[in-house]
Amino acid sequence: MNLPILDAIEYQPAESRPGSLNNSRSVYIETYGCQMNVADSELVASILNDSGYQITSTAEDADIILLNTCAVREHAEERVIGRVSQLNGLRAHRPNLTLGILGCMAQHLSKTLPDRAPFVDLITGPDAYRRLPEILAQSSQDALLDVRLDRSENYIGVNPVRNTGTNAWVTIIRGCDKFCTFCIVPYVRGRERSIAAEEIVHQVHHIASEGFKEVTLLGQTVNSYRTDDTDFADLLRQVSAVNGIERVRFTSPYPVDFTDRVIAAMAEITEVCPSLHLPVQSGSNAQLEMMQRGYTIEAYRDLVSKLRAAIPDLVLTTDIITGFCGETDDDFRQTCELMEEVRYDSAFMFKYSEREGTYAHKKISDDVPEELKGQRLQEIIKLQENISHQLNRRWINQTVEVLVEGPSRRPATDGSPRYYGRTRQGKTAIFTQQVQTNEIVEIHVENTTSHTLLGNLVTH
Ligand code: 5AD
Repeated sequence: MNLPILDAIEYQPAESRPGSLNNSRSVYIETYGCQMNVADSELVASILNDSGYQITSTAEDADIILLNTCAVREHAEERVIGRVSQLNGLRAHRPNLTLGILGCMAQHLSKTLPDRAPFVDLITGPDAYRRLPEILAQSSQDALLDVRLDRSENYIGVNPVRNTGTNAWVTIIRGCDKFCTFCIVPYVRGRERSIAAEEIVHQVHHIASEGFKEVTLLGQTVNSYRTDDTDFADLLRQVSAVNGIERVRFTSPYPVDFTDRVIAAMAEITEVCPSLHLPVQSGSNAQLEMMQRGYTIEAYRDLVSKLRAAIPDLVLTTDIITGFCGETDDDFRQTCELMEEVRYDSAFMFKYSEREGTYAHKKISDDVPEELKGQRLQEIIKLQENISHQLNRRWINQTVEVLVEGPSRRPATDGSPRYYGRTRQGKTAIFTQQVQTNEIVEIHVENTTSHTLLGNLVTH
C-alpha cells in the first residue's frame, strides 16, 4: 500500500444535509491513516447521515464515536488502542455511549480486538459500511462484528459528505492486488476493483458545482485503474475536462503500472499538477525482490528520467522502508545513494513493522535488529531533511501559483496572522496578506525552510 500516512484527523461535518431524517443520535468520526481512510470516513458520514444520524465535530458530546483506523504498522494500531481506551473513560458520565472501530485495523484484528478492547461495541471492516445503520440499530452485550470483504463493494450511489476544505478526495479504485510481501493492505481492503468512469466524472461534476477547484484521485495503486473502456490516462483527461476543476492530483501510483500514455497525459493536461508521490521503498534490487515490488531499481530510475523529461517542473516524493528482512549495510547504502541521486522533495520514511498475515510474516525472518532499523531511519531522515532544504531554496525569488487553504496555525513572530495554501507542486506556501480560502493567487517567494515556502502576495 502506497498512501502517505496522516495524523489523526477529526471529521469536520459539512452542514447537515436537507432531507435527512431526524435521528437524535449524534456520531463523531475520527480518522487515522491514509487519504483513502479520509475518503472512507466521508462515505460513512454520508451513509449515517442518510439514516438520520447527526454528524458532530466533538467526541465529548457524541452518542456514537467511530474510529476509522489504519493497520500498515503496529504503531498505528497501538495508538488506536490507546485512544479507544481513553474514550471509554467518557462512559463514566455517558453510559449509553457506543464505541466503534472501523477500517483496516478492524479488519486485521477482528479476532483479537474483542479481547484487547472488550469495551468496543462494534468492529466494522472497509467493505461493510453500508450495513452500519443496521449494526448500530442492534443492541448486544458482545461486540458486533462485520468484517466481510466484498469484491463488488464500490459504494456506488453513496455521495460522500465532503470535508469542508479546498481539495476533494475521489476514490477511483478500491483494494489492492499487488501483495508486496511487507504489506497488509490486500488482506484488509480486499481485491482491486475500479469504479466506472461515468460514476467518477459524475462525482467530479458535483464536486465542481460545490465550488471545489482541486480534486485528488485516490487508490492504493491509483494508476492501476482500468475498466473495459477507460484506462487511467483516459480518466485523467475526462476529470480534467470538467468545468471549474483547475487542479487534478492523484495518489499513490505504483511504479510498474506507470504507462507512457499516463506520462503523456500528465505532460499535456494543464490541470494535472506537476507533483508525484512515487513510492520506491528501497534502493536495493535484493530488497525490492524480497519485497516483491515487481521492478528493479534500474527500471525505477528509467521511469523517473522519463517523467522528468516529459514534465520538467515535476516534484517527486516517495515512501521508504528501513530494516526490511535481510537488509544489509550495503542494501541500505544503495537506498541512501538513490535518495541523493533522485533528490526527492520529501519522503515518508518508516521502520519495517512486521504485520501478521503478510507473506513476510509467514515466510521471511524479521532479522534486522530494532536498534539498527531505528539508526538507519534516523540517518535517512537527516539526509532527506538536507535535500528538502536545498531543493526548496530554488523557489526563492520565484512567483508561484497558490490555492489558498486558510489561516495558518502558526502566526508570524510579531503575532500577526498568516495564511497558507499549496502550490501546484504541492508545496505549502505561507504569507501574511489575508486572502479568501479557495482563491488562487500568486505568491512571490522570499525565503524557505525544508518544509515551506515563505512569501508575499503579488498584486497586479
Ligand atoms: N512496515 C513499515 N512500513 C510499511 N509500509 C507499508 N507496510 C509497512 C510495514 N509493514 C509503508 C510503505 C508504504 C507506506 C504507506 O507505508 O512505505 O508505501
